[in-house]
Amino acid sequence: MLEIENLAVEVEGKTILENINLRVNKGELHAIMGPNGSGKSTLAYAIAGKGGYVIRNGKILLDGEDLTRLEPEERALKGIFLGFQEPPPLPGVKLSTLIVAALNKRRGVKDLTKLSSMRDYKAILEGLEKVGLSKSYALREANVGFSGGEKKRAEILQAMLLDPKIVILDEPDSGLDVEGVAKIAEIIGELRGEGKGLLVITHYARIFKHIKPDKVSILVNGKIVAKGGGELAYKVDDEGYKSFS
Ligand SMILES: Nc1ncnc2c1ncn2[C@@H]1O[C@H](COP(=O)(O)OP(=O)(O)OP(=O)(O)O)[C@@H](O)[C@H]1O
Ligand SMILES: [Mg+2]
Repeated sequence: MLEIENLAVEVEGKTILENINLRVNKGELHAIMGPNGSGKSTLAYAIAGKGGYVIRNGKILLDGEDLTRLEPEERALKGIFLGFQEPPPLPGVKLSTLIVAALNKRRGVKDLTKLSSMRDYKAILEGLEKVGLSKSYALREANVGFSGGEKKRAEILQAMLLDPKIVILDEPDSGLDVEGVAKIAEIIGELRGEGKGLLVITHYARIFKHIKPDKVSILVNGKIVAKGGGELAYKVDDEGYKSFS
């Protein structure tokens, strides 16, 4: 359902990604691995439509619809969700307000500050429990003073509640403790089971000890240099990227 065709991306006039082709099908977990600075986050931002990430060539298609020129909000409404490598703090915006605003936007509600329904609030509280955060986080300012692992848990909570078609997670395991990694892997498995397509960026295969990816693409220096099945992730964990560059 998500198709990236021959994508080239430029940031500040510098080409970061070239000739990227990849596909994430419904109910599929596609892992992207690669060294620091290889362009993984750039790929995630380009798909989500972040400003400053200029698509110089190629296309991004979701269920055959061309998203390449759409604004980030429009892409989100069409079903693209990005969990950031470093989720930004949002002073003054409660986590629950952020989630309800996003839900209401999807539903076409005009006044996004409209109070949540009991149903939304209940879903948020249940979700918090599931990701291992206490209920009090619903009323905390989103990501303000959250620890690294707490931010990651809050991101996956949003991925669960917003019901996107494609979930892109940029290093969802970074900063997480052992139980946190297992939990995130379990939730990724559930999202996959619901038929969502997952694009998961990571450095280490530790998350894949719990859940095996269907496909793995290796990104080095802005290009995909290898593609394979789940076993490729374990090979990288053992041998690094030397054999791919
Ligand atoms: N605004 C910018 N100006 C100049 N260079 C940039 C900018 N944004 C990204 N880059 C460069 O693009 C390259 C790819 O960065 P990116 O963040 O996509 O890497 P990454 O694979 O996600 O790395 P990491 O594993 O460290 O998160 C890096 O060399 C980075 O310095
Ligand atoms: Mg990155």
